[in-house]
Amino acid sequence: MKHYLQFKDFRAEEYAYLFERVRVIKQRFKNYEKYQPLVDRTLAMIFEKASTRTRVSFEAGMYQMGGSVVHLTTGDSQLGRAEPIEDSARVISRMVDLVMIRTFEQTKIERFAAHSRVPVINGLTNEFHPCQILADLFTYLEHRAPIGARGFEMDSLKGKVVAWVGDGNNMANTWLQAAEILGFTVHVSTPSGYEVDPKVAGISSTGCFKVFNDPIEACRGAHLVTTDVWTSMGYEAENETRLKAFADWCVDADMMAVAQPDALFMHCLPAHRGEEVTAEVIDGPQSVVWDEAENRMHVQKALMEYLLLGRIG
Ligand code: CP
Ligand code: NVA
Repeated sequence: MKHYLQFKDFRAEEYAYLFERVRVIKQRFKNYEKYQPLVDRTLAMIFEKASTRTRVSFEAGMYQMGGSVVHLTTGDSQLGRAEPIEDSARVISRMVDLVMIRTFEQTKIERFAAHSRVPVINGLTNEFHPCQILADLFTYLEHRAPIGARGFEMDSLKGKVVAWVGDGNNMANTWLQAAEILGFTVHVSTPSGYEVDPKVAGISSTGCFKVFNDPIEACRGAHLVTTDVWTSMGYEAENETRLKAFADWCVDADMMAVAQPDALFMHCLPAHRGEEVTAEVIDGPQSVVWDEAENRMHVQKALMEYLLLGRIG
């Protein structure tokens, strides 16, 4: 049994397989073809933080595949009344086939997985957001990679530069793991005090990223420019301080102008126009944020299929 708790839980070769499955599954959806390999399977979704995309994409995806979902939040379950996470895992995993959790500390999802009888998927923690990077990479490949006999040419990612502008947060950490596994480099620019920490990011060396004090320099020559909110969920008390600290880390037309001429712009959403990105960039021609959001559903359908049924064919 496999869990998907962080990006490095899978190898490069598993990602190549998964991206090809995503392509097939997405095509079927676009052709209105029924594909229901998960009939009678149930996904429990546990949300300890808010969500729009993660909830809709997992829920719609599971129904499309013939399965059903149970939606739990801290407020409407015993999780909010201090039932131990280990006990919750033992109970929930006796009744469903798969669990998705969005919570605070990564240790919490690890404790859940350690006591679960079924695969557990990370739907975002303070440290990581692997389903989002799965969608972002698929989106990049869809826009930029040729398709060979065995699916996307994964070498299209090798040597590429992803510019990360903003907070050294869960998204940044997950980008670093992806870079280490898939062979690209992340140019990271954060305000002082908000740097990425290779230990928290869970990478084995610092070779997959370079640090830039100036966000413009991080974007120079990048194939993909990406950012995220300045204040992640769980850090709301720091909002005022962060607004001041991050003021120079707004992705704007000047940053896009020094990136590759065909560079893509991504943002996991929700976005705050005028804070981490200008409206001109996020609503402009290089932005692929709506594809990114839609692809959450397609990648997670392939992920659920893989965790529950293994390789197809
Ligand atoms: N990007 C993302 O995870 O969005 P939600 O918080 O809406 O789920
Ligand atoms: N870094 C953000 C991502 C939201 C999808 C957060 O954790 O709130």
